[in-house]
Amino acid sequence: MITGIPQHIAIMMDGNGRWGKQKGLTRSQGHFAGSKTMENIIMDSLDIGINVLTLYAFSSENWKRPQKEVQYLMDLPAKFFKEKLPEFMEKNIRICVSGDIEKLPMHTKSAVQSAVKATENNDSLVVNFALNYGGRNEIIFAVKAIIGDIKESKLKINNINEELIDGFLYTSGLPDPDIIIRTGGEKRISNFLLWQSSKSELWFTDTYFPDFNKELLLQAINEVQERKSYQARL
Ligand code: IPE
Ligand code: IPE
Ligand code: MG
Repeated sequence: MITGIPQHIAIMMDGNGRWGKQKGLTRSQGHFAGSKTMENIIMDSLDIGINVLTLYAFSSENWKRPQKEVQYLMDLPAKFFKEKLPEFMEKNIRICVSGDIEKLPMHTKSAVQSAVKATENNDSLVVNFALNYGGRNEIIFAVKAIIGDIKESKLKINNINEELIDGFLYTSGLPDPDIIIRTGGEKRISNFLLWQSSKSELWFTDTYFPDFNKELLLQAINEVQERKSYQARL
């Protein structure tokens, strides 16, 4: 039984490439399967009553991958939103993006921006896509903006605190993640939510992302609840 639904779950959707390889398919076919799983997980998160779901879709390091794979990943958002936006509207889902979207190819950027715009007044689940996201880049971006505001006398050094820094991050306005899930067996943070993960519970599974499902999501939530009740008894 789940007691106390987490407000914000973030998922590092890892293992698509290995899933493809294991099935005798291409890495890109693995990414396609991952995008189908992502659709299910969004609807499952809505059913469960999670408020914010952050999905690590493309890291600032992922540009180093073969060009064909990068191109496939950059083509996915337009296809994804074309198909899913009507359902997101119907279900009142809001799309957000965290990352340096200025560096995305034009068609990727505009697909994401129009989904953000179309859903801006929706108020059920927030789905936050971490796209061209890097935790270190995010901090650099925030530091530059803060220094800019100090130089223009809009801000005083003494007013810099955690809340202020939160407001300069890509995730401004979103609560910190309660749980960070990484699929695919690796146990690394891979430049994900470096600032925001300060108090997050981490949960790992060997399951490749295309095989991730609602049962595993509920298992993660339950195990974290158990950890918390154990800590409370200490
Ligand atoms: C998906 O998994 C993560 C993305 C960058 C989209 P990977 O593509 O990293 O798959 P593996 O880890 O190589 O199996
Ligand atoms: C993390 O997975 C990024 C995403 C899930 C998008 P990677 O496969 O890119 O990370 P590393 O290379 O294992 O650190
Ligand atoms: Mg990987």
